[in-house]
Amino acid sequence: MKTTVESIRAMKGRGEKIAALTAYDFPTAKLLDEASVPLLLVGDSLGMVVLGYPDTTHVTIKEMKHHVRAAARAQSQALLGADLPYRSYDEVDGAVANARQLVAAGAEFVKAEGGREILPQVKAIIAAGIPFCGHLGMLPQHVLEEGGYHVKGKQEAEHQRLLADAKLLADAGAFAIVLELVTPPVAKEISETISVPTIGIGSGPDCDGQILVTHDLIGAFPWFTPRFVKPKVNCAAEIKLAVAAWKSQIGAR
Ligand code: KIV
Repeated sequence: MKTTVESIRAMKGRGEKIAALTAYDFPTAKLLDEASVPLLLVGDSLGMVVLGYPDTTHVTIKEMKHHVRAAARAQSQALLGADLPYRSYDEVDGAVANARQLVAAGAEFVKAEGGREILPQVKAIIAAGIPFCGHLGMLPQHVLEEGGYHVKGKQEAEHQRLLADAKLLADAGAFAIVLELVTPPVAKEISETISVPTIGIGSGPDCDGQILVTHDLIGAFPWFTPRFVKPKVNCAAEIKLAVAAWKSQIGAR
């Protein structure tokens, strides 16, 4: 059965954990769909793990659309979302136009990073009929001004700001909110306070769902693994073994 924004919200109501993973291409979206993952994201993390950029600030709307089209060709039962890339939602009109482009490419919802500072953009996207997922806590698109990827919610002011921003996004109509690197007690409090699902990444076990970069889960990007991920398989090693076996079979050195 096709997963919808409503069915994701209903999972929270039933206390059912929501599994979400990134998918940037056709085979990954198809495989993850066959593995019954209900929520797939063409995340701008693709900038690092498939395009080789140092961070997500280099990803363009053109690159996002290319990957959304590929993932959407899988025609998954999963709900497929896409990130609005860096600076593509600075202005309200641009945010709506770019969100529409991602939807035209095949995204069923869009995600953008931030709280009160992007609220006008969030409201305009939702008013345009496009489902919206929030993203609070550590915001990878802010890595340059923040000088790294830091855990959020340790200070009381930060804790209160995160809670208030989560309420603002939920009240504006966001159907879910990603919480990235938020201290587990704060992530738990937010999850218990707002009615829409929280999808955690590095934010402890008490979010309504969890999301990972698929490459991290399967050990396909061995040069960096976030400390909160324990890969379930070592794809990088398997690829090297397969190549070595084939080279030996064909008599290559
Ligand atoms: O870009 C991304 O893949 C993300 C998720 C990991 C939350 O934003």
